[in-house]
Amino acid sequence: MKHHSTIAAALLGTCHNVVALEWSATYGRQPAPFKLSVNPEIIALAHQKAYLTRFPVDVEQPDWSDGPPVHNATSVRDYWVNEYDWPEVQREINSQ
Ligand SMILES: *[C@@H]1O[C@H](CO)[C@@H](O)[C@H](O)[C@H]1NC(C)=O
Repeated sequence: MKHHSTIAAALLGTCHNVVALEWSATYGRQPAPFKLSVNPEIIALAHQKAYLTRFPVDVEQPDWSDGPPVHNATSVRDYWVNEYDWPEVQREINSQ
C-alpha cells in the first residue's frame, strides 16, 4: 500500500503559504529499504530561516535558565548555515 502524505497542513493548521513537507513510503509488515528525498525547497527555506535569525544582545547569566548564551546560539546557527550539507548527508544515508 502506497501513501503520500503532507504534514504541513497538520502542523500548521490553515497556513498554506509554506512548502509542504512531503514524503512517500511503502508500508508493510516487514522492514524495507527506502530512499530519502527531501524537497530541496524545504532545505533552502530552513537554511534561509537560520541565516536570517536575529539574536538579542548577550546578557550575563549564571546558568542557562534564560536560554543559551548568544555566542552558543550563534555558533550553532553558523554551523547550520555555513557547514551542514543536507544533500551530502542524504546521499550518505541513501548509499547504505
Ligand atoms: C558555550 O560557549 C562556551 C564558551 O565559548 C563553551 O565553552 C561551551 O562549550 C559552549 N557550550 C555549548 C553547549 O556549545
